[in-house]
Amino acid sequence: MTDLAAADFFSDPDIAQSPYDYFDALREKNPVYREPHYGVVAVTGYQEVMAAFKDHDTFSAVNAIGGPFPPLPFEPVGDDISDLIEAHRHEFPIHEHMVVMDPPAHEKARSLLSRLLTPRRLKENEDYMWQLVDHQLDQFIDNGRCEFLSEYAKPFATSAIIDLLGVPEEDRPEFLAALGAGEPREGNRVGALDGEPVGLDPLQYLDDKFAGYLAERRREPREDVLSGMASALYPDGSTPELIEVVKPATFLFAAGQETVTKLLSAAVLVLADRPEFQQQLRENPDGIPTFMEEALRMHSPTKVDFRLVRRTTTLGGERLPAGTIVMLCLGAANRDPRKFEDPHEFRPDRKNVREHIAFGRGIHTCAGAPLARVEGQITIRRMLDRMSEIRLDETVHGPAGARNLRYEPTFLLRGLSELRIEFSRS
Ligand code: HEM
Repeated sequence: MTDLAAADFFSDPDIAQSPYDYFDALREKNPVYREPHYGVVAVTGYQEVMAAFKDHDTFSAVNAIGGPFPPLPFEPVGDDISDLIEAHRHEFPIHEHMVVMDPPAHEKARSLLSRLLTPRRLKENEDYMWQLVDHQLDQFIDNGRCEFLSEYAKPFATSAIIDLLGVPEEDRPEFLAALGAGEPREGNRVGALDGEPVGLDPLQYLDDKFAGYLAERRREPREDVLSGMASALYPDGSTPELIEVVKPATFLFAAGQETVTKLLSAAVLVLADRPEFQQQLRENPDGIPTFMEEALRMHSPTKVDFRLVRRTTTLGGERLPAGTIVMLCLGAANRDPRKFEDPHEFRPDRKNVREHIAFGRGIHTCAGAPLARVEGQITIRRMLDRMSEIRLDETVHGPAGARNLRYEPTFLLRGLSELRIEFSRS
């Protein structure tokens, strides 16, 4: 049984490897519980997480990514800290990105993104992904084995966003290399928000590249995706500053590389561990979307997400003074037994699985969810078409019942550090 007084979610390596016992212990104590180390209020109940997501007036997203790190740049005073948040907003990490904005700035930033993520663009991107998946599998399929993250998931997730944004063909290899998703090599990682340096600041690299593209397209529009972005207007008809278009575009890499890599590897681990699912899904590919939703529920790549209480309120019966840092534990809410029966069991045909909140809810609901879903479904579909007997490399991961699996030691995201699989060709 987890000792809640001793356990430190933010630094305990055992919790990072296996957070679900800790989440259960928190929820049993109280679905809204103040943890003792940073005074962060952990919300582990499905209903309570949902309530906080939907009340964006009370729960500001200003600290969505950092939570208690760095500490608040001000001392909360009184029952309404709206003015303090606005006065110090620019001191919060990644303050220029939409995920930490509140209305009305958030709505404006997101409107530019919806100009890009049109049904038509997503469909074109999906067509590209069908080719991409085979291209990526071709790189290693004859070997009968691979390290799935570096040889498939990272380059695939990165290439999908590069294509979505219409990066010119000749620049794509440079993007892949700069984002740590080029040719696999020892220690290769996707940098962005959750990773380590890749030799240059990947977000700065992206900002510079996109600022260049979009400035050029404003001067000389072409018939391409980047020109569409460059000419996007706000809903009131005004023209955004160049940097205001650059930020939503480049944020897609930070938001959609690591998360998708983690989802794909979690889903493939389930398949490799449960050969009966491989057969079932091969016989009934229509079951793949629900299988992927169950992977999102059980192995939610975004483990936690944060909010700052703007006005004193109550959540799940607990009083939360203005200035309270709230940790919305998506990985826990998605395994709340009050919502999902036998929550720790992987059921590929779970009836209410689509109610999971792996993509968040409310105004900040993941803008890339349709893309992530397609990436998952296409990957599983083609792997099952082209491979049989997908299994774990037991020399690395150990035998069934005594698996050796390492997860990234971060508090924000949940995902494997490596996944070595073997397979036969179909
Ligand atoms: C399995 C993969 C993914 C997961 C689990 C995931 C999860 C999330 C979550 C939980 C949020 C809400 C954050 C909050 O409320 O504080 C979010 C927001 C966001 N995601 Fe994703 N995401 C994934 C993939 C992607 C992809 C592929 C893209 C784009 C290419 C993307 C773009 C975004 C953006 C732009 C936001 C900010 C939306 C806003 O603030 O309005 N995500 N994501």
